[in-house]
Amino acid sequence: MLIRHAPDMKTSEITDFHLYLNRRSFLLGMAALALAPSMPAAAAVPAGERLKATRNERLTVEDPPTTFESITTYNNFYEFGTNKDDPARLAHMLKARPWTVLVDGHVSRPKRYDVDELVRLSPLEERVYRLRCVEGWSMVIPWIGYPLASLIKRVQPTSKAKFVEFTSLLDPQQLPGQRQGFLSFSSLEWPYVEGLRLDEALHPLTLLTFGLYGQVLPNQDGAPIRVVVPWKYGFKSAKSIVRIRFVAEQPKTTWEKAAPKEYGFYSNANPTVDHPRWSQATERRIGEFRRRKTLMFNGYEEQVASLYTGMDLRKSY
Ligand code: MTE
Repeated sequence: MLIRHAPDMKTSEITDFHLYLNRRSFLLGMAALALAPSMPAAAAVPAGERLKATRNERLTVEDPPTTFESITTYNNFYEFGTNKDDPARLAHMLKARPWTVLVDGHVSRPKRYDVDELVRLSPLEERVYRLRCVEGWSMVIPWIGYPLASLIKRVQPTSKAKFVEFTSLLDPQQLPGQRQGFLSFSSLEWPYVEGLRLDEALHPLTLLTFGLYGQVLPNQDGAPIRVVVPWKYGFKSAKSIVRIRFVAEQPKTTWEKAAPKEYGFYSNANPTVDHPRWSQATERRIGEFRRRKTLMFNGYEEQVASLYTGMDLRKSY
């Protein structure tokens, strides 16, 4: 997800610099995985509170889940830094309770919800989804949550609501990456903002997520509440959400603002449309060495392709 510092700097220079920084943690990670390729859920983070859910077999992929250790130590959460292990190291700074989420905008029943009220709003399901990052790696994660549609129906969007905007927490005290000079580049605007079209947000695969691997979300994975949109690149799935707003216009998202040519609003996983710096044709599953082909819409084509009928996905990438 790294972006350029200045317009006159070559992309390759930046990539190399960050590759250098990231290579070390990548190699260490690979070494650890090679030593223990099928390690059971490890104590990378203290075991969290259990969260009961019923497995939704129909919406569970057959691929074996990535280990709990990898899911909680190989993260993108720029509020804690740009290295993959920064979030696991620093996420203890985030206080995930008490926590409220404001649901407002063009809705008949706006409300500020306590997160514990949200957890109980609808039956929790466990769904094992693929997650494909635009950087070329992927994971398989047993999430716990319920369809975002359940919340949306409750707040009753009006006819003006066309998009949904998700805003993550803004608090440099708890999120050091938001402090001036903490990240090695300064082009990201905080708070982190993502968005979906209303029909995407209402799609039954879009999950309002509170946990993974049978426990509440570890902080580095977006505690206490995030969305998961499995057919899009991982950055569309905003973490640690404090506001869900229903709007008439397409929201301006963080990555789009930072680098519009690299990160489009839709960002559907699409092996035929390359990112300027990363091929999207293949991916490396964390815990494996071979590269595998990336599937159209990350393998969810049958369920979601109809959302994009008539759209040119080369332009609306
Ligand atoms: N949400 C916030 N608030 N900040 C972030 O930096 N990173 C995104 C997404 N959500 C990000 C975020 C990216 S790039 C990815 S790939 C996924 O979170 C990673 O989720 P995971 O670390 O739980 O696998």
